[in-house]
Amino acid sequence: MLKNLFLSALVISVQILTLLVLLHPSGVAGFRIDRSYFTKSPVILVPGDGGSQLVAKLNKPSKVHIFCDKKTNDYFNLWLNPQLLIPGVLHCWVDNMRLVYNNVTRRTSNSPGVDIRVPGFGNTSNIEWLDPSGFMPPFIQRMILSNYYVDIVNGLVDLGYQRDLNIRGAPYDYRKAPNEMGEYYGALKKLVEETYERNYQKRVTFVCHSLGCPVTSYFFNQQSQLWKKKYIKGLISLGGAYGGAVKAMKTIASGENLGILIVKQSDLKIEQMSSTSLAFLLPARQLWGPNEQLAFTKTKNYTVANYDEFFTDIGYPTGYEMYKDTLPFAEISRKPPGVEVICIYGTGLDTTEKLDYRKDKSLPNSPKLLTGNGDGTVNIRSLQVCSNWEGKQEQNVYSKHFPKVEHLSMLSSKLIIDIIKHYVVTW
Ligand SMILES: *[C@@H]1O[C@H](CO)[C@@H](O)[C@H](O)[C@H]1NC(C)=O
Ligand SMILES: *[C@@H]1O[C@H](CO)[C@@H](O)[C@H](O)[C@H]1NC(C)=O
Ligand SMILES: *[C@@H]1O[C@H](CO)[C@@H](O)[C@H](O)[C@H]1NC(C)=O
Repeated sequence: MLKNLFLSALVISVQILTLLVLLHPSGVAGFRIDRSYFTKSPVILVPGDGGSQLVAKLNKPSKVHIFCDKKTNDYFNLWLNPQLLIPGVLHCWVDNMRLVYNNVTRRTSNSPGVDIRVPGFGNTSNIEWLDPSGFMPPFIQRMILSNYYVDIVNGLVDLGYQRDLNIRGAPYDYRKAPNEMGEYYGALKKLVEETYERNYQKRVTFVCHSLGCPVTSYFFNQQSQLWKKKYIKGLISLGGAYGGAVKAMKTIASGENLGILIVKQSDLKIEQMSSTSLAFLLPARQLWGPNEQLAFTKTKNYTVANYDEFFTDIGYPTGYEMYKDTLPFAEISRKPPGVEVICIYGTGLDTTEKLDYRKDKSLPNSPKLLTGNGDGTVNIRSLQVCSNWEGKQEQNVYSKHFPKVEHLSMLSSKLIIDIIKHYVVTW
């Protein structure tokens, strides 16, 4: 009797062991079971504005410059491609990249004859480095700000993570805002479920950056609590622009060269002002008062209460239409997401806070930028939206801010990468 019991226990444990060895790739080779494998939360990375590669194929009715191609046989790398951002050729790039707004359907489409795709959904390859050519050595790649999620991905690989198995990427067309991202959200939900199943039903951790954070928070706000409880471990929010940024307003009005010094910002403006995502990122009514200046001339103040006048006065009324389209989505993204949140952001860096247009003829292209606290891109009150979720949802909210850690370079901060590494193996 006792012997039989012992034998059947032995059989069962051998079966379990075999199962584990078969399930685990390294177990098959070395007959060694890495227990930690079963404790790792799979990670999905959601990039911010400009944080994923884009490819394009052309069959255009006309061209804006003699240098430009009208037709290409195949898809080529449109972002980030330093070769397309040099003067002259830049006009072609701007015309290929811009969106066209239809004020009847209230939706955007690509420039006529341009087909743009976001490659590699589900993979990290298109969000680790933005310039896929591999043409330049890594230190130059870093100088042109081509590195994106690479250091975080490498940090996870050091822990034993595998690209495309338990670190996934969820890039999207960052020119658009959640009002036009229905298809993406469907794919994202499937990606979560598939990643969970492929990883022994371990709940998924999201890591988001900048624009990617309100994009993700909107997604969570649309899911049932039951679904989130089953599939989501938590959200690690890096420099989340939940309340927008005055810099978005500045970029629409005057352009922005994204720190890429060879690029002239007024040339880029045509493309940038056409991005619905920037209208989505206009400073929020809940965070800026109706009398608080965002921009001002000698005779007039522009605040969250008169965006309509601002867009009329800069000669771009379409911007206000886009703002109205995206506003309900932005407001939902500010609500607590109903998952555990690690809210991380940098502080103490000069960040655009007001656009001073008192100088004659400076509206719209030449504002003097007055600065305040933030991470160099996003204003402090917008970064703090995720800390303020504490107590407003059942799930925990942990906040950590880092003095002088800049908006983009935070993705390479060892301190921050260590927090992520710690979180994903702690249950
Ligand atoms: C829509 O756009 C067209 C063409 O730009 C313009 O003539 C028209 O006034 C716009 N209508 C509205 C309602 O904004
Ligand atoms: C993603 O990566 C996997 C493995 O690295 C590859 O087999 C697959 O084709 C890639 N998918 C896309 C969409 O790039
Ligand atoms: C603009 O705002 C400033 C600061 O709030 C205020 O002092 C000024 O009177 C306002 N100007 C106008 C024209 O409303």
